[in-house]
Amino acid sequence: MRRRNPLLLLLSVASLGWIALTYHLLKSPDNEIAASYFRQGIQTKLDALEVGLRNQKNDARGLYAVVDGIRQTKQLNGSRAFREQRLRASKGRPVIPILLFACNRVTVKKPIEQLLNYRPNAENFPIIVSADCNHQLTLKTIKVYGDQVQLIQQPDQSDYKLPLKQKKFKGYYKIARHYGWALNKTFLDLNYNSVIIVEDDLEIAPDFFSYFESLLPILEADPSLYCVSAWNDNGKAGLIQTDNSSLLYRSDFFPGLGWMMTRDLWLELMTKWPKAFWDDWIREPEQRRNRACIRPEISRTKTFGKIGVSNGLFYEKHLKFIELSREPVDFLSKDLSYLLRDNYDVDFVKEVYGSPAVALTTVTNGKVNLPIWRPVRVTYTNISSFKHIAKLLSIMDDFKSGVPRTGYRGVVSCMHKGRRVYVAPPADWKGYDPKWS
Ligand SMILES: *[C@@H]1O[C@H](CO)[C@@H](O)[C@H](O)[C@H]1NC(C)=O
Ligand SMILES: *[C@@H]1O[C@H](CO)[C@@H](O)[C@H](O)[C@H]1NC(C)=O
Ligand SMILES: *[C@@H]1O[C@H](CO)[C@@H](O)[C@H](O)[C@H]1NC(C)=O
Ligand SMILES: *[C@@H]1O[C@H](CO)[C@@H](O)[C@H](O)[C@H]1NC(C)=O
Repeated sequence: MRRRNPLLLLLSVASLGWIALTYHLLKSPDNEIAASYFRQGIQTKLDALEVGLRNQKNDARGLYAVVDGIRQTKQLNGSRAFREQRLRASKGRPVIPILLFACNRVTVKKPIEQLLNYRPNAENFPIIVSADCNHQLTLKTIKVYGDQVQLIQQPDQSDYKLPLKQKKFKGYYKIARHYGWALNKTFLDLNYNSVIIVEDDLEIAPDFFSYFESLLPILEADPSLYCVSAWNDNGKAGLIQTDNSSLLYRSDFFPGLGWMMTRDLWLELMTKWPKAFWDDWIREPEQRRNRACIRPEISRTKTFGKIGVSNGLFYEKHLKFIELSREPVDFLSKDLSYLLRDNYDVDFVKEVYGSPAVALTTVTNGKVNLPIWRPVRVTYTNISSFKHIAKLLSIMDDFKSGVPRTGYRGVVSCMHKGRRVYVAPPADWKGYDPKWS
């Protein structure tokens, strides 16, 4: 610790006295006295004081912002101004809550720990854990984190009366009810402008927050987008390019599994939210309305398996092998405007249809007569040819509302034996056929 210079202390006291005097004089009705002081060459002294004051002001600014934030929150809660204020909170970065869905699995501990561990700060990324199912052990697990997370509980625990054939889908009804309730809570009661949705069986990548934060302005600016997802449905080792963790794409297929939406999308969906199977519903043309999502080449989430409503076999055969990105990318330092449709589509079409068309067997036999860095294109013309190609390239072969997983303008992109392959319809493609399933 440095000893304080007594001279400096004296000067400070003198300066304070001077400030008090000047202030008094300026405030006094007799401003003439003040004016005369100014005329008597005290300008230099005042200049020095001003510098001192400015420094103090800078120090106080941080504190002032905090106080101001609290006051504004109290005054403007619920209003649009409140939301905008919140958007500009700390350092002008947006506030994006993470909504974590929990039911009866204590594995919720893992995503909570990871979210707390990776989030840059609590102000910009509040964590809301929404609990359904009234499962005491899960609730206890969540409460361990105290006010590091905000626990909300879905109140409607009534049972579903379903026809016999639908009974096995009860879990999907409960999930849709939980999602609808919690999203209403997030947007209408808590008044957030956007949300990142995760579930209790998800692992997250170290750059999860930087990924979503950097893509929020893109999502907000581009009306042809309706989500940002952390998931690549074809994100298995061997199918992805691993030498560049920054690679991002547009996708007409809603991937879910760690995804971000805006308030505007919720306002659009909230009154017609379905009773079950919300994810397939959101993929239907009436909801998607030709909009796309952003997805990474290397997933920023990974499911560690769930026992419950979703198919355990699907996990064992597929989900388990999706790679989680380990090498953090500072997305905030990158210009991501190439993902806006007007910038993206022209290059995309040029890239895909500028690649030489080759036969599927040439690719699978490793007989492509081009340098490994040159992409190639394999054409499909109908649903069975797509499925055949998909099987041989080990990519997902299913469709939802006519869209293949990760498809963009009908094109699915993957790696095969170290080469980029575009599985593409003919160049005069007319759009998705919802009958393909
Ligand atoms: C904001 O308003 C909601 C409901 O109107 C209330 O529950 C909440 O406590 C308020 N928050 C603050 C910080 O005043
Ligand atoms: C959300 O709240 C709105 C307004 O109260 C209501 O119309 C809508 O049905 C709610 N949606 C869901 C899914 O609960
Ligand atoms: C990685 O991908 C990004 C986004 O496409 C690109 O800007 C960058 O140049 C690539 N880096 C390398 C080393 O290829
Ligand atoms: C689908 O496409 C393949 C290859 O282009 C072709 O051989 C096959 O006859 C087509 N099948 C149908 C049902 O049109």
